Amino acid sequence: MNNQNLDEYLDLQIKQIREIVGNEQVLLGLSGGVDSTVCAGIISKAIPGQLYCIFVDHGLMRLNEGDQIESVFSDKVKFIRVNAKDRFLSRLKGVSEPEAKRKIVGEEFVRVFEEEAKKLGDVKFLAQGTNYADIVESGATGKDNIKSHHNVGGLPEKLNFDGIVEPLASLYKDGIRALGRKLELPDFLIDRQPFPGPGLAIRVIGEITEEKLDILRFADAIVREEIDKLEQRPSQYFAVMTDTYSVGVRDEKRVYEPVIAVRAMVTNDFMTGEYAALPHDVLGRISERITDEVDGVSRVVYDITSKPPGTLEWE
Ligand code: XMP
Repeated sequence: MNNQNLDEYLDLQIKQIREIVGNEQVLLGLSGGVDSTVCAGIISKAIPGQLYCIFVDHGLMRLNEGDQIESVFSDKVKFIRVNAKDRFLSRLKGVSEPEAKRKIVGEEFVRVFEEEAKKLGDVKFLAQGTNYADIVESGATGKDNIKSHHNVGGLPEKLNFDGIVEPLASLYKDGIRALGRKLELPDFLIDRQPFPGPGLAIRVIGEITEEKLDILRFADAIVREEIDKLEQRPSQYFAVMTDTYSVGVRDEKRVYEPVIAVRAMVTNDFMTGEYAALPHDVLGRISERITDEVDGVSRVVYDITSKPPGTLEWE
């Protein structure tokens, strides 16, 4: 989308939001990701003072992310943080099937929104940062359902809102970033990697436990820290906690511990992509740091699958 089209898109969305919402209040689930951030940017520009942002801390965020999000947004919008970790983890207990996890996280999100909205009183609209790729991949355009994305497939049929505002629904990620820059949102938020709505629930393969989440968070922080140092960074990179255990040796003792996988992809639209040809010394450093610094990891492997056939996320 060129600059002029982007201006027109923005004007149109602002006009539509004003028409749909009128003087009512809007509630947005703010995750701190690019989509919800830009969504918050457009809506607060269209109807300043009418946007409540709820940040649901589901306990499935990356390392320190909850606090970072709170510190960035708490003075920009009407920001509410809900600490709902126990609730999400108890519903996810014993669940290992990816679609079931996605649906549970999606449903629980909506429930938390509704509960918070009730507490707020008269909030009539729900805003979502759903983008075009979410819609296509969830099968809403008639294509095969690949994965039910949090924003689309996880929603229950009936919502207690008068309407839904989705100002990014016809944009891909690069268009959303361009729009974010136009809205003068800070670069570090706009250039952030995408992070799925179900969070680390779909990066812990199989059953989720707090211990596995903790291991993954530390491993993932190392992966991102090392790849962030590169001048040419892949489009998305993260760690996956596999459900494979392998034998290793630590302090001259045999250990039998989980395998961490590193995923790094180069893509323009997140619909197709190639695995990133990361330099071997970077891969080596990541592996060495994870096995040295994170307790409970026996082995690190690099995922060399492109999309298709492999999706970016493992689940
Ligand atoms: P896949 O795994 O489908 O991922 O190749 C494509 C892009 O979408 C992100 N992703 C999600 N984003 N809710 C989201 O908002 C989700 O449920 C979800 N699942 C995957 C993924 O991180 C990648 O950027």
